[in-house]
Amino acid sequence: MGLLAKVVERVSDHPVLFIFCRSLLENDFRAIRAMIRRDLRVGQGLRTLDLGCGPGAFADLFDGDDYVGADLNARYIDHARRHRKGTFLVSDARSVDLPDGRFDQVLIFGLLHHLSDLDARAVLAEARRLLVPGGRILVIEDIPAISKLNLIGHLIHNIENGEYIRPPDEYRKLYSENVSIAREEVLQSGICDYYAAVLVK
Ligand SMILES: C[S@@+](CC[C@H](N)C(=O)[O-])C[C@H]1O[C@@H](n2cnc3c(N)ncnc32)[C@H](O)[C@@H]1O
Repeated sequence: MGLLAKVVERVSDHPVLFIFCRSLLENDFRAIRAMIRRDLRVGQGLRTLDLGCGPGAFADLFDGDDYVGADLNARYIDHARRHRKGTFLVSDARSVDLPDGRFDQVLIFGLLHHLSDLDARAVLAEARRLLVPGGRILVIEDIPAISKLNLIGHLIHNIENGEYIRPPDEYRKLYSENVSIAREEVLQSGICDYYAAVLVK
């Protein structure tokens, strides 16, 4: 691993620095937050699961009583528990120790591009299991930078440890094995490009 990649990994592991750097690169997550507000029901008593929630940067959009965040990184979860409302679990998104049909909606943001097809399938199957029939998943995942001029975007993807950044077609194929795609969109958040899809069980 190169020096720059090591620095990025160290910075990423620190919850405050992680949130700060990403907010800077992503224009305070304005586009992402607007999309979450539009495609998920926020503050309406619906039970929400945030899979791969990191330090809980989006927990404030939901009612704390109805929000559960799950992430493998215990440092992120510890930070989220101290700074956000909601319930936070250190858990692998491929297997969450909660009953079937526990949630009305699931948010997955920036998780699947860290996972192989096999693991991404397991996460999607788990999200499906945890949803009520008719429940929805909003999944927003990194795609290769669209503009050749977006040098910082290309650089970040090269050094970030997201080894499975896919073009939209590949995500689409994975999703349609499990659930139906109700809506999809390519969007820009600061200097990052994403493929977003609303999946319905
Ligand atoms: C790019 S971060 C996104 C975090 C958060 N969704 C956000 O946007 O701030 C990816 C997250 O996925 C988590 N992660 C990676 N593999 C995981 C797994 N198998 N189960 C749960 N979380 C995982 C990492 O710990 C990290 O917090």
